[in-house]
Amino acid sequence: MARLVVHGGTPLHGSLEANGAKNAALPIMAAALLAKGKVTLRRVPNISDVWTLTGILKAMGCKVEYDGTGLMELDTSTLTTTKAPDHLVRKMNASFDIMGPLLAAYGEGEVSLPGGCNLGSRPVDLHIAGFRKLGAEVNSQKGFVRATAKKLHGAHILFPKVSVGATKNCLMAATVADGETVLENCAREPEIIDLANFLIAMGAKIHGVGRQKMRVTGVKQLHGIDYSVVADRIEVGTYLIAGAITGGDVTILGCVPEHLSSLLDLLKEMGQELTINEDSIRIQGRRPITPISVSTEPYPGFPTDLHPQLVALATLGSGTTTVTENIFNGRFMYAMELVRLGGDVRVSHRDVVIRGVKQLDGAPVDAPDIRAGGALVCAALAAHGESTISGVNFIDRGYQEIEKRLSLLGAKITRADFED
Ligand code: UD1
Repeated sequence: MARLVVHGGTPLHGSLEANGAKNAALPIMAAALLAKGKVTLRRVPNISDVWTLTGILKAMGCKVEYDGTGLMELDTSTLTTTKAPDHLVRKMNASFDIMGPLLAAYGEGEVSLPGGCNLGSRPVDLHIAGFRKLGAEVNSQKGFVRATAKKLHGAHILFPKVSVGATKNCLMAATVADGETVLENCAREPEIIDLANFLIAMGAKIHGVGRQKMRVTGVKQLHGIDYSVVADRIEVGTYLIAGAITGGDVTILGCVPEHLSSLLDLLKEMGQELTINEDSIRIQGRRPITPISVSTEPYPGFPTDLHPQLVALATLGSGTTTVTENIFNGRFMYAMELVRLGGDVRVSHRDVVIRGVKQLDGAPVDAPDIRAGGALVCAALAAHGESTISGVNFIDRGYQEIEKRLSLLGAKITRADFED
């Protein structure tokens, strides 16, 4: 079993180029199912979720060429089955992204209920309700969701709750439906905007991109294109927090600072020094780390995917910080692991209360999900002595070569195989 071995206490210094966003690359790969023609993607991150979706598409007969250096070529015209392989779908929640495109382009899809990070319940009822509005028949039994439709038709879909996944899936399905679809109470995350821009570049007609209400006029078919994926704001945010927690000086290049506004405001409030340019962010870690109070919200609010990392930073704060989790009811498994590193972190319902301590100390810890892994790496980088982090398979799902990237910033972090 691989683990990360971290010798903490070294301030990080230097600069890194941002990678493409996991949560944009995955739905964009899925949306390639809608294209009649070859799709070329650039800045695709080399993370295991991308390889999992590559495996799913290949198992369904699509041609996908990807060597992990950012460039991906997809030809989905060779698809031989609309049934996704269960053993791969179970590996990540985002695999359900293929359902909307399959339904729209092929009139049917069968995808098992997705797996992925254990952040609490991950239902897909909002996706299914949207597909039904668009005219699909959807049956869910024995862990599989099967959807069919002779032809999808435009509809008015008001999401009762803001959902990134349901917004993406219904948006993709609506692009080639007959007539006009109005999507209301949409999620507005930058990755949804990136997906919408990709669909528009393929010939889709979408108005209101980035707003709560989007209007989609169905077109006959979408064509292949060449597209570059937006920067990963969550990866960027994690490395900024790593810079802050170690008292370092880190610059992330090639990112979109506006996408991180909520985090950047909080980091300033926490006393960290930021220099923000058009496409780069520099952080200089300062002491004291001032306590704050924050709640996770849909974009443009503070993202749930940066919650654990921010808590890691607050463990070394000069007072009591509270973080309220409003998106996922089970995103707290990392808290006990931060306690192992010496943090004073308590969870009560949806609130995490962090009383700042003077120092963290290295310990063996286990990453229970992707962003928890990011948080534990940040904490371990600041802790005195050696930490070993297991659950690296989760970290690899969302962070490209994390030990190599952090080593470039001077971190003492390696990957090693352990016999369990
Ligand atoms: C996406 C991101 C994930 C991020 C999350 C919130 C991807 C691949 N993943 O996940 O990293 O943490 O957005 O920003 O992009 N819900 C329902 N019914 C549904 C769908 C969702 O009740 O049909 C609930 C969820 O349980 C959750 C909330 O709605 O409580 C938000 O989920 P959603 O925005 O859909 O998140 P994901 O798309 O799963």
